Order: sequence, then structure tokens, then C-alpha cells
Amino acid sequence: MALHYREGQYAGRHVFVTGGSSGINLRLAEAFGLAGAKVSILGRKPDKLEAARARLEGQGTRAQAFSADVRDYAAVDAALARAVEAFGPLDVLVCGAAGNFPAPAMAMSSNGFKAVLDIDVLGTFNACRAAFERFKTPGACVLNISAPQASVAYPMQSHVCAAKAGVDMLTRTLAMEWGGAGIRVNSISPGPIDETEGMSRLAGDADARQKVERTVPLQRLGTKDDVANLALFLASDAASYVTGAVYACDGGMQLVGGTFMQL
Ligand code: COA
Repeated sequence: MALHYREGQYAGRHVFVTGGSSGINLRLAEAFGLAGAKVSILGRKPDKLEAARARLEGQGTRAQAFSADVRDYAAVDAALARAVEAFGPLDVLVCGAAGNFPAPAMAMSSNGFKAVLDIDVLGTFNACRAAFERFKTPGACVLNISAPQASVAYPMQSHVCAAKAGVDMLTRTLAMEWGGAGIRVNSISPGPIDETEGMSRLAGDADARQKVERTVPLQRLGTKDDVANLALFLASDAASYVTGAVYACDGGMQLVGGTFMQL
């Protein structure tokens, strides 16, 4: 799967991606950059961030990186302030920072559950809340990265199921509250995507991978470009009447859920 965009489609736009230093989020940042956008990424680890920023610049993208934990509102707010000062008001906010580890509820401490809820739900709220007055309006949009766990149960994912359901309800609520300001808010729900930390955490070995491939209706893992293409569409004028929606990009995984995961 290749990226689908028009040359210069996002020229002059500013795209800010939380969790943007790796995985699906980095590919989204790259895709918007290749389509002409200026890209800001935010992440926790300075080394990874710097490598990602250099990679984006190597692709010809104007890029800047900010080190912050999405759970820390003041740090997110400060990063957004600096990002907007340098690259101008935001056209697109991608809330991609997320946490995950496979564990049954009884092998998870209260703090482990909270860590994932805080990164996913509070982190998404923090980024949206801090971004609101920095959007270029009308016409800006938010893309919250969700997961099939939001709508169908997976064993060993009680924290992620609860968190991503929360993310999708944030999407819907903010879409209602912010529609009048001309800001669209949608969720993208990637399923099993190849070469990601999520896949290596949930289905790390060849056997587990095969189980996923046999389970997912399209019988293959997705690619990061599959997800990036959906993001490029949802942030574009072609989706100007789309808000409050949860778009699956999961090969049909939300139809079958986490039956591939063993307890
Ligand atoms: N099984 C059970 N509990 C676990 C665990 C596991 N595999 N991994 C972490 N935890 C628990 C820790 O024991 C801790 O609980 P405790 O204080 O009661 O011991 C709690 O989770 C927080 O761990 P900590 O490492 O301090 O949190 P963190 O904020 O640094 O990390 C995580 C957050 C745990 C979500 C970590 O997995 C992470 O940073 N993930 C980001 C990357 C990622 O998950 N990407 C994939 C997204 S799909």
C-alpha cells in the first residue's frame, strides 16, 4: 500500500502529532509532511524525538519536536504554544500518544490501569484542550487515534478497552461542542498494523502473528500507510462534512475482536 496524496495538498498547513516519534503516528507525520505540511511532533523520549525530526527533515519536511508527557497539561500547553509560535496556528491535531501492555485485570495494579487511562484519555483531552484556542478556524480538525478495543472486548486489554472507549466518546463530545467553531473531530481506529510497537506487544511471535492474520476478516495485517491514507482523507476538504465519526482501519477486526488473544 502506497500513500495517496496530491503534491502540495497540505502546503502551508501545520500538523501537530502527539506520540509522533514512532510507529503509526510517525508515519502519519511523514505522510502529512510529504503532502507539504509543516509538522510538529511531541513525545516523551528526546533521543527518539530527535531521530524522528531528523528523518522528517531528511524527507524535505519542515519539522520541529517537543519533549513532553501528554499526562502533564502544563507541558503540553507549553509545547503547543512554542509550536504555534514557530509554525503558525494548527490545521490538524493528531492525538496519537497511547500506552499498552497485555495483562489480565488481576495481573494489573491499579496504577498500571491508571497509566494507560491517563496517557490515552487524559492525554487526548489535554492535547485537545490546549490546542483549542490555537486552531486555524474554521477548517481545522482533530484526529484521535483509537482502536478496535473501544467497541469490542479483548482479553488482557481491560485498560485499553476502557481507555479507547473514552477516547471515542471524547471525539463525539468535542465534535458537538466544537462544530460551531468550525473544528471537526474524528477518531481513527487502526487494527493490527504491521511493524508497530502495539503489534509486537500484543502478537510478538510468528505464531501469534499468524493467529491474527487468520482472525482478521481481510486476512492480513494492515500497514502504516493504510492508516496514513485515512488520516490524509479525514483531514482534507473531501471530508469537510465528516465529524464525530469513528473510522475503522482494521481489516474488519472490530467485527471479531480479541479472540486471537489467549488468557
Ligand atoms: N504487566 C502488568 N503491569 C504493568 C506492565 C505489564 N506488562 N507494564 C507496566 N505495568 C505497570 C507497572 O508495574 C506500574 O504499576 P505499579 O506502579 O503498580 O508497579 C504501572 O504499569 C505504570 O508503569 P510505568 O512503567 O511506571 O509507567 P509509564 O508511565 O512509564 O509507562 C506504560 C506507561 C506502562 C503504558 C508503558 O507500557 C508505556 O510507556 N507505553 C508507551 C508505549 C506503548 O505502549 N505503545 C504501544 C501503544 S499501542
